[in-house]
Amino acid sequence: MTSEIISSNELSKADPVFGQNSFDDHEQIVFCNDKDTGLKAIIGIHNTVLGPALGGTRMWDYQNEWEALNDVLRLSRGMTFKSAITGLNLGGGKAVIIGDAKTQKTPELMRRFGEFVHSLSGRYITAEDVGMETADMDTVREVTPYVTGISQNKGGAGNPSPITAYGVFMGMKAAAKFKYGSDVLEDKNVFVQGIGNVGEALVEHLSNEGANVTISDINQERLEEVSSKYGVKIYNGQDIYNEAMDIYAPCALGATINDDTIYKLQASIIAGAANNQLAEENRHGRILQERGIVYAPDFLINAGGIINVYAELENYDRQEIMRKTENIYNTTLEILDNAKTNDLTTHEAAFNIAQERIETRKRENSK
Ligand SMILES: NC(=O)c1ccc[n+]([C@@H]2O[C@H](COP(=O)([O-])OP(=O)(O)OC[C@H]3O[C@@H](n4cnc5c(N)ncnc54)[C@H](O)[C@@H]3O)[C@@H](O)[C@H]2O)c1
Repeated sequence: MTSEIISSNELSKADPVFGQNSFDDHEQIVFCNDKDTGLKAIIGIHNTVLGPALGGTRMWDYQNEWEALNDVLRLSRGMTFKSAITGLNLGGGKAVIIGDAKTQKTPELMRRFGEFVHSLSGRYITAEDVGMETADMDTVREVTPYVTGISQNKGGAGNPSPITAYGVFMGMKAAAKFKYGSDVLEDKNVFVQGIGNVGEALVEHLSNEGANVTISDINQERLEEVSSKYGVKIYNGQDIYNEAMDIYAPCALGATINDDTIYKLQASIIAGAANNQLAEENRHGRILQERGIVYAPDFLINAGGIINVYAELENYDRQEIMRKTENIYNTTLEILDNAKTNDLTTHEAAFNIAQERIETRKRENSK
């Protein structure tokens, strides 16, 4: 720490927050620090026009603070459009905790994080994301009611991942209907990249349907476990983006559709769970469109998880969760048709509808 005055020349070299590329008129960004527990977190509230900003907390061993900040900015913005397109009365928010979830996560740290969430009086509601378990949300619940994704025995809706996977499966089937004229995935070559909580549940749906599934992951143990459980192939090649396949399902981390991969990709459909799959949503969306690859927008088809946690706030039951999640099929088909009719990328088509819903509510709110 220094109490020296930093020259304005030094200060003006960078716009550390509002000048970031990922900054998109976010309403509020909260930096949380607690020396005793080692907590360093950032809460991003992108937009609260439709309701409180709901989105999970990710704990990740970021290389530096820029990475963490950019992740929370991108993820919280994504939540705004995810809830808007799904018709939920929720805004977009997300939190990141800087650190290794395996070694640095403690109940004390999670409670302290919960207190920061509580200090926002419900403008931000948290849930789990990568690096978090249902049990962590139960710990947060000890200090704040502004948390979802808690255990079923504590009145919550439990692990959202199987519901997310079901929604992705529905979105994938809709994309197949659009591309091939039939939503039957039997014998289609599907590559599932990342077989964690969501990826495994997706593999189960695909296997039940008779798809020809290949899995990849950086965790060899997981690969062997999932392969033997569902009888699916493990990818052993060098470059998944160079492989012949019908459907690519990214279910690990974001930005796998980028300048290095986009021209190699041989799939005719992209449909997966990962958030922010397109490194640059407009430019890469346009290239996919030109190449005739149908991209099922991530924030549309991976909304099952948020539908599941929203049930905790609105008190709807499992049947309603499944009905809303199944409806991802219809919404995806509508968006794909809309994009084709209006010569838009599928991302733009989904984004425009979400944005319109927010603008309409904003006008109503200001009356
Ligand atoms: N869990 C949900 O309900 C939910 C909801 C919406 C979106 N998502 C998104 O879906 C994705 C998966 O979520 P999850 O809950 O299954 O996470 P997870 O942490 O359980 O699984 C991620 C898997 O990806 C693997 N992985 C990491 N880097 C990889 C790489 N380079 N190549 C191949 N595999 C790699 C990991 O080893 C792990 O098995 C995340 O991007 C998450 O943000 C999840």
